[in-house]
Amino acid sequence: AIDISKLRDQTGYITLDPGFKNTGAAKSAITFLDGEKGILRYRGYAIEELASKSTFVEVAYLLIYGELPTGNELETFRMTVRRHTLIHEDMKKFFDGFPSKSHPMGLLSALVGALSAFYPESLNAHATEEEEDLTVIQLLAKMPTIVSWIYKKSLGHPLIYPSNDLDYVTNFLNMIFGQRTEQTEIDPVMVSAMNTLLILHADHEQNCSTSTVRIVGSSQANLFASISAGISALWGPLHGGANQAVIEMLEKIKNDGGDCDKWIAKAKDKNDPFRLMGFGHRVYKNFDPRAKIIKKACDEVLEKLGINDPVLEIAKKLENAALNDPYFIERKLYPNVDFYSGIIYRALGFPTDMFTVLFALGRLPGWIAQWREMRTNKEPIGRPRQVYVGAPERNYVDLAKR
Ligand code: ACO
Repeated sequence: AIDISKLRDQTGYITLDPGFKNTGAAKSAITFLDGEKGILRYRGYAIEELASKSTFVEVAYLLIYGELPTGNELETFRMTVRRHTLIHEDMKKFFDGFPSKSHPMGLLSALVGALSAFYPESLNAHATEEEEDLTVIQLLAKMPTIVSWIYKKSLGHPLIYPSNDLDYVTNFLNMIFGQRTEQTEIDPVMVSAMNTLLILHADHEQNCSTSTVRIVGSSQANLFASISAGISALWGPLHGGANQAVIEMLEKIKNDGGDCDKWIAKAKDKNDPFRLMGFGHRVYKNFDPRAKIIKKACDEVLEKLGINDPVLEIAKKLENAALNDPYFIERKLYPNVDFYSGIIYRALGFPTDMFTVLFALGRLPGWIAQWREMRTNKEPIGRPRQVYVGAPERNYVDLAKR
C-alpha cells in the first residue's frame, strides 16, 4: 500500500478530502461497521446481541478493555465505579453560575472540562496505566451525577446524590426522576429501555465527535479536556443534536396541521435548506442496524408505559412516505438511530434539550476506548494539510491609504 504520509515529500501532492469521506485516520480494533450491509459490532460482538443480552456497564468494560469481563472483573469494575460517583462539592457552584435556561450540552462540556481542575492527576500526560485507569473510572462514575444535576438545576429542583446501592442506570434514573428524601421506585421498563439506548450509542468508530476526541487527545491533552471537546462536537444538529432536532421537527409538523407531504416536499426542494431530521447517514447506506433495534424498543416502551403520543403518528407517516419516495430511495436516506431515540426519551419523561446529553452519556465509553487506543498506538499528533486558495503575496497597505 502507498504510505500516504510520505506522499507529499515524494511527489509534492497531498490528498484533499473535505469531510474525510474516504480518509482513514486510524487503525482501530474497537468497532466494526459495514455501512452497505448494515453491520455494527463492538470488539467483534454484534450490536443486536449486546443490546438484547448485555448491560451498559458491561459494554463499557468491553469497549474500554477489549474483552467481555468475567464475573469477578465485572463486579470489581462496578464497585470501583460506584466508589467515584460523587463530584467535588465546589463543582456545585458552577451550576449556580450558569443561567437556568442554558442548553445542557454547553454545561456538560464545561463541567467535564472542569473535572481536570478538581482531579489534577489527570493532567499527567505520562501517567502510569493505573493512574490513567483511575481517570477513566472517575469520568465514567461522575458523568451520570453531572448529567442529572444539570437537569435538576434546570428545573430548580434540589440535587439528588448518587445511591451506590443501585446499579449504574437505575442510579442515574433515580437522580433524574427521584425525590431528595426517598429513593424512587424506577420502573424496570425504563431501566431496560435506557440500557438499550446507551448500549446502541456506546461507540460508532471515527464519527465527528470521536475523531475530535482522538485529535484533541493526540496533542496529549488530558482525558477530561478531550472528552469535553467531543461533547462540543456532538452538540451539532448534524450529529448528536439530531435527536433533539427530530422531536422539534415532528412537533412543528404537528402544530402546522400534520401535512407530512408538504414537509417531505420541502426536504426535497434544493432551494430550501430544510432536511428531514433523523434521515440519512454518512456510512449506513441500506439501513442503520441501531434504528432497527431501537424501533422495536420504541414500540415496546410506548406500549408498556401506555403512552399515546401524537408525534408518533407523524413519525410513522414520515417514515412510510420517505421509504417509498424515489428521492429518498435514490439517495439511500433511511431513518437513523436518532429518528427513534428522541421518541423514547420523550416517553421516558426527558425534556427535548436533554436528548443530546443522554447521547453523550451513552457515547462516553466509546470516546474513552478510542482515546486510550490512540495513546496505546502512540499515534502522532493530528495535523491535516490544506490546499491554499487565498491571495498571492501582496504588500501591506498603510491604514491611511486603504
Ligand atoms: N433530508 C433531505 N435530503 C437529504 C437528507 C435529509 N435528511 N440527508 C441527505 N440529503 C440529501 C442531500 O441534500 C444530498 O442530495 P443531492 O445529492 O441531491 O445534493 C444527498 O442526500 C447526500 O447528502 P449529503 O449531505 O452529501 O450526505 P452526507 O453523508 O454528507 O450527510 C448527514 C449525512 C449529515 C447525516 C445527512 O444525511 C443529514 O444532514 N441528515 C439529517 C441530520 C441527521 O439526522 N443527523 C444524524 C446523523 S446520525 C448521528 O449522528 C448519530
